[in-house]
Amino acid sequence: MQVGIDKMSFFSTDYYIDMVELAKARQAEPDKYLIGIGQTEQAVVPATQDIVTMGANAADQMLTAADRQAIEEVIVATESGVDQSKSAAVYLQRLLGINRYARTIEMKQACYSGTYALMQARDYVTLHPEAKVLVVASDIARYGIATGGEVTQGAGAVAMLVTANPKIAVINQDNVFMSDEIMDFWRPNYSTTAVVDGKFSANVYRDFFKEVWERYQEKNHQTLADFHALVFHLPYTKMGLKALRDVLPEADEDKQAQLMEAFEASRVYNKRIGNLYTGSAYLSLMSLLENDPTLQAGDKLGLFSYGSGAEGEMFSMTLQANYQDGLVANQFADLFNRRQKVSISEYEQMFNDLLFGSEDRELDTSADVAKFVLAGLKDQKRQYIER
Ligand code: HMG
Repeated sequence: MQVGIDKMSFFSTDYYIDMVELAKARQAEPDKYLIGIGQTEQAVVPATQDIVTMGANAADQMLTAADRQAIEEVIVATESGVDQSKSAAVYLQRLLGINRYARTIEMKQACYSGTYALMQARDYVTLHPEAKVLVVASDIARYGIATGGEVTQGAGAVAMLVTANPKIAVINQDNVFMSDEIMDFWRPNYSTTAVVDGKFSANVYRDFFKEVWERYQEKNHQTLADFHALVFHLPYTKMGLKALRDVLPEADEDKQAQLMEAFEASRVYNKRIGNLYTGSAYLSLMSLLENDPTLQAGDKLGLFSYGSGAEGEMFSMTLQANYQDGLVANQFADLFNRRQKVSISEYEQMFNDLLFGSEDRELDTSADVAKFVLAGLKDQKRQYIER
């Protein structure tokens, strides 16, 4: 029996900033942001969205009533949790109307935990073939205004339904992973923004990729020639490009050109959203699925997941014939048409306006068209509503 990703869906907010405008505001060369970092736009989060609402808004678009009955586990991967105790998954269960006999859990290991959640889902469904597992990777990447990491912020959620006989891709049992305790990026409990040793983190990412890729090849007797695409965790899209370039010389010229084309397809959406931590590699997978016209059933797709701190994992998927049926039609086109550009000063205000405090607060949700919104904080309880 084959198990993998049956459906995928994405949500990001209705606001963004333009990277040329951000570069000008920070006295940087626009080409540094556009080419050197590889980002053109960045999602901006209003106070009425958080990782719970973004996750619910992503998953809701792909789930049928039958899915909501059949789901046996809801796993939320995030490093932007809204509570130290209660998991975001149990909020999602209620908001999405998922049956009460489902397990709910939240996972954390920087940007890596979405991959662990996906593997947990695959292994559960392998043991229980009738079951469906909902995996949601939802995050807000925050470094701070006018920091070195600011150009690599972003936000959004990817939802994946894992089942037997999946529509999109079978997840192969070929995972290779490694961990090493490293201080490249972290976020202490007292801080709403990440602490990062930027250049060090980029070097660790590359080192992890090279080592994991080498072990993957040894263990599975595969080379670049076996892959249609390598999909990367993309904290900014130049990062994946650097990692790919590190291994490209292993392939012949035609294969190098083809892998580069696939890589370009895999970063179209990430360039416009920014980093979404746990969901970033999976947004890149969606970008590949929607922007690479040469994809064919049976193609092997490699995915490299990296989470600071640090952990890396490589695995492959086999593309299924009707993969497009597992995606929500026009989802990205609608998002990019709908969302509005905000000025840098408006973004700065929004950045400082998110609901982190402990005081009761009522939020004006009228400008937010999403189905699930955060309406405020009352008696220490976050007020999630569905419209
Ligand atoms: P920086 O100091 O602002 O930038 O930091 P830089 O000086 O290194 O320049 C960046 C690139 O732009 C360089 O290219 C320049 O040459 C180029 P590179 O050498 O890297 O190929 N450049 C130009 N290109 C064209 N035209 C120009 C121009 N000027 C310069 N005019 C940094 C950049 C990414 C370090 C910073 O933004 C940062 O700290 N970001 C956050 C950390 C991060 O994203 N790390 C990635 C690896 S760790 C990871 O992936 C995990 C993570 O997602 C978190 C988690 O796991 O939870 C972050």
